[in-house]
Amino acid sequence: DKGTHRHFMAKEIHEQPSVLAYALSHYLDPARKAVDLPGPAPDFAAMDRLLLVACGTAYYACHVAKYWFEQIARIPVEIDVASEFRYRNPPIGGRDGAIFVSQSGETADTLAALRYVRDAGGHPIAVVNVAESSIARESDQAFEIKAGPEIGVASTKAFTCQLIVLAALAITAGRQRGTIVAAEEERLVTALARVPAQVADALGAEAHVSELARDLAKARDILFLGRGPMYPLALEGALKLKEISYIHAEGYASGELKHGPIALVDDSVPVICFAPMDPLFDKTVSNMQEVMARGGRVLLASDTDGLAEAADGAWATLSMPACDPVWAPIVYAVPAQLLAYHTAVEKGTDVDQPRNLAKSVTVE
Ligand code: F6R
Repeated sequence: DKGTHRHFMAKEIHEQPSVLAYALSHYLDPARKAVDLPGPAPDFAAMDRLLLVACGTAYYACHVAKYWFEQIARIPVEIDVASEFRYRNPPIGGRDGAIFVSQSGETADTLAALRYVRDAGGHPIAVVNVAESSIARESDQAFEIKAGPEIGVASTKAFTCQLIVLAALAITAGRQRGTIVAAEEERLVTALARVPAQVADALGAEAHVSELARDLAKARDILFLGRGPMYPLALEGALKLKEISYIHAEGYASGELKHGPIALVDDSVPVICFAPMDPLFDKTVSNMQEVMARGGRVLLASDTDGLAEAADGAWATLSMPACDPVWAPIVYAVPAQLLAYHTAVEKGTDVDQPRNLAKSVTVE
């Protein structure tokens, strides 16, 4: 049931404040301001390396989580798309951990990658939405993202709930490995607990996004830029846009722009920058200015401080709530989703059932 919404995707985008709070309630202990996993914690201290494997949007959740596990728990992380991982015969060591992320829990390549790790003597861990799925059943341990049924083919609330669970696991890993002290865990958990309210704030940009979408819908190509954990979010923004609006889009790490893609930029190419006030903000802004110097139409998504500093010369701005830079990818997922959704609605595509796509990809 779509409720008052025109599409399941819209409903699922708008559910996020409550669904994220619900997911967090399974992973945080608010009284102790600490992570409290719903099951036994994986032994991250015994790992020399962590593999994060998935497909599509779930893979981009892994890509964001790589920044978290490396920064918070100082554990080397490798991320891989399942279809590459499974056929590469990658060496698996006795001290490798492996997490498989999947909304449906039935994605054929992700399941095959999991079986590969298990057959190599590893102990796969799953992060899934569907508790009784194959990926959950065949892993040593499964963590549920608690997003509820996701009907729209384009993944939205499952992505942000995957990030919540991966964030809780990264903090757990940091605690076990002694790379964060209790006060730091408290700070991270307090900031994470604020995310649902910030996501609700970010949804306030919707009316403005739907205006901008009228212009975006005319574009042939759109670029998305971000740095640090916002880089995978740029990739996710581009994926979301292309799968439902059929506009060609690419995500790039901001610093990579001058190594090729800037050749694409002219005044017909909107360039969407996800730039929260974080330690890399100035670098992102200078990349943005390179785009503007070439006539590119920059859409800057940032908070009040960021917009005050860098909005000059931008084609458009999106006002985001201030948030902890570590968890900003969860909050900025909202404008990424809304931009894709409203551009697709403007183009009149079948938002919930985009052409050529299935919700669950059970063939390789
Ligand atoms: C994109 C999308 C797909 C899925 C991918 C993995 O919006 O929905 O890219 O993320 O097919 O699916 P799951 O998570 O079910 O393994």
